[in-house]
Amino acid sequence: MSKILSPITLPCGATIQNRLVKAAMTERMSNSDYEPTQAHQNLYKIWADSGAGLLITGNVMIDKRHMESAGNVFMADEKMIPKLKQWTDAAKGHGNHIWTQISHSGRQTNRFVNPNPKAPSEVQLNKLWLFGKPQEMTEQDILEVIEGFAKASKIAKEGGFTGIQIHSAHGYLLSQFLSPGTNRRSDQWGGSLENRSRLLLEIIQGCRKEVGDDFPISVKINSSDFQRGGFTEEDSLEVVKKLGEAGIDLLEISGGTYEKAAFFMGNDKKKESSIRREAYFLDFAKKVREVSDVPLMITGGFRSYDFCNEVLEAGETDLIGMGRPFIGNYEVMGDFLNGKVPYLENPPIRTGFKAFEDAAEGGYYARQLINIAEGRGLKPNLNPMASSMFIVTHEFKKAREKK
Ligand SMILES: Cc1cc2nc3c(=O)[nH]c(=O)nc-3n(C[C@H](O)[C@H](O)[C@H](O)COP(=O)(O)O)c2cc1C
Repeated sequence: MSKILSPITLPCGATIQNRLVKAAMTERMSNSDYEPTQAHQNLYKIWADSGAGLLITGNVMIDKRHMESAGNVFMADEKMIPKLKQWTDAAKGHGNHIWTQISHSGRQTNRFVNPNPKAPSEVQLNKLWLFGKPQEMTEQDILEVIEGFAKASKIAKEGGFTGIQIHSAHGYLLSQFLSPGTNRRSDQWGGSLENRSRLLLEIIQGCRKEVGDDFPISVKINSSDFQRGGFTEEDSLEVVKKLGEAGIDLLEISGGTYEKAAFFMGNDKKKESSIRREAYFLDFAKKVREVSDVPLMITGGFRSYDFCNEVLEAGETDLIGMGRPFIGNYEVMGDFLNGKVPYLENPPIRTGFKAFEDAAEGGYYARQLINIAEGRGLKPNLNPMASSMFIVTHEFKKAREKK
């Protein structure tokens, strides 16, 4: 049997039936009350039918003033549980897990959602004109964030999710706290790495209290921000050690922020060895293995069946996270898992203009995800330049719909 088909049991006792994971991808499809819709159900039913052992939702937010997208689901209160149950029922097709990625976007909240977001410090995000200058969080704001994550984890469990993932990567709030570039605080939440990681660790504790010892808690963390003065690999390895002590069940490694979207392409300056090896965070994973025995998931770049099995066999990672293939190749993911499709062709989306490439990549897949969810399937030949504008127009529209 191929290693990708073998089960894995997490420290909390939960078993995932195989090693393929649909990584978090923001859906941007909530209704005007911030709830999941029929489109969420359709999409997750398709993904559950692939047979992947674990599906992780896109960003689901703890605060409607700090959403990664105006189309995110906001875990407001218990009233939402019936809608969450419809979503999770559709997503639990074949004994697979469905976890939700809980998040707060901090300064990476676009202007349409909130022109005056809060963040660890007043360091503005330089990406076009889309992000307002943030206001520094007070102690009270920080305590509310801890409560918000804990409450969302409780609602998630009651809503039928079988695990949670705390989003501490890609430049969102918890990643902002970890990075000295965006966290300039001099109180107990900033300065030393111990202080910068305090919020993440308190959130894990708060969530654990709500969900109990037998419920999976995962953390997605950056290997680094790939920016001068940011969160480094050395920082990340120290945080990884602390996460092991905090008793998490799965660590997912990714990297980058909106300013440097390494999660899409890896680090531009990557070594020859990691160019040959399709998954771009594997070199860092080796270092993680040296300091932590928490089950590990690597996401970014995996495309070939043999390579996935090779790295699983070698123990370089325990789970294979994939994002874009679950959109671009969604009809064959089940065949891939069963070894009938050897390679998931996923050419990069290019406009020819460096400034637009990340937006085109994100916009293309965002549009296709919505096409699949709404029953239209993949639309061939979506224009890369038009795709680069999609997120801005979609955000404007979704923000206006919201109550
Ligand atoms: C359309 C889209 C939306 C994404 N949304 C999220 C998200 O909500 N949370 C997250 O942690 N990562 C998100 N990602 C990043 C993916 O989880 C993943 O790290 C990235 O796509 C690299 O993996 P891949 O090479 O298999 O696509 C998103 C990626 C895409 C393409």
